[in-house]
Amino acid sequence: MTLQPELCHAAWTPVARCQPVTHNRSVVTELLPAEAVAAVIRSRRSVRVFQPTPLDEATLQALLDLARWAPSPHNSQPWRFVIVRPGPARQRLAAAMAERWQADLTLYREATPAVLRKVETRRQRLLTAPAAIVACLSGEHLDAYADAARRQAEWLTAEHSLGAAVQNLLLAAHSRGLGGCWICAPAFCPETVRHALDLPSDWAPRALVLLGVPAGSGGNPWRRPLCELVVVR
Ligand SMILES: Cc1cc2nc3c(=O)[nH]c(=O)nc-3n(C[C@H](O)[C@H](O)[C@H](O)COP(=O)(O)O)c2cc1C
Repeated sequence: MTLQPELCHAAWTPVARCQPVTHNRSVVTELLPAEAVAAVIRSRRSVRVFQPTPLDEATLQALLDLARWAPSPHNSQPWRFVIVRPGPARQRLAAAMAERWQADLTLYREATPAVLRKVETRRQRLLTAPAAIVACLSGEHLDAYADAARRQAEWLTAEHSLGAAVQNLLLAAHSRGLGGCWICAPAFCPETVRHALDLPSDWAPRALVLLGVPAGSGGNPWRRPLCELVVVR
């Protein structure tokens, strides 16, 4: 598929576009002691409020470069990313998603002032975030199966790997002192997002990731104890 020029990022250096980084345990452990990795994973929090400091494209490129090293089914790399710059595209996206969310929220109840405030808060959050990236799924390199059950399973595995890529992105941001939040709204209105951003027809918007320099420390969400989550057989 040929991408529109603005999606190609031809200006970006094709850093390690196809070069595999071989698994080299000693390099990894020397550079990153296990405790450092654990600390990055444990201390990442969803950050929803940012300082107005803009993020430059070199930073975004570095983060997305790490996102794409996530595992994927038969290395299909089904993730696609849209950097939504502040300006007309961001305004279109924020307006379209707000309109859609308000319609969803008022499907079975009135548009109370509280509902309208909620919608406006989310719209402003998207408009003012220093960086906004829409993560999409593409079936371009997925395996084709004749039956619906296996097609669905293949698609599901691709969805999993998109999640891994988004987590890479969030961890990469956090390790650089940035904060981010995974916003699931695009999964509820993929057509709205695709239309607002004029995306290729086989890009399925799944998540919006807001990024920036954190303002404040974020929340302190708890985790269920391992004994509730793990069984041994
Ligand atoms: C698939 C997914 C969807 C999410 N959607 C939203 C969202 O729409 N809005 C939001 O504020 N946070 C969203 N989050 C962030 C979660 O609320 C957050 O990860 C969770 O509360 C745990 O907090 P932590 O990330 O700080 O550890 C989402 C996270 C995931 C993984």
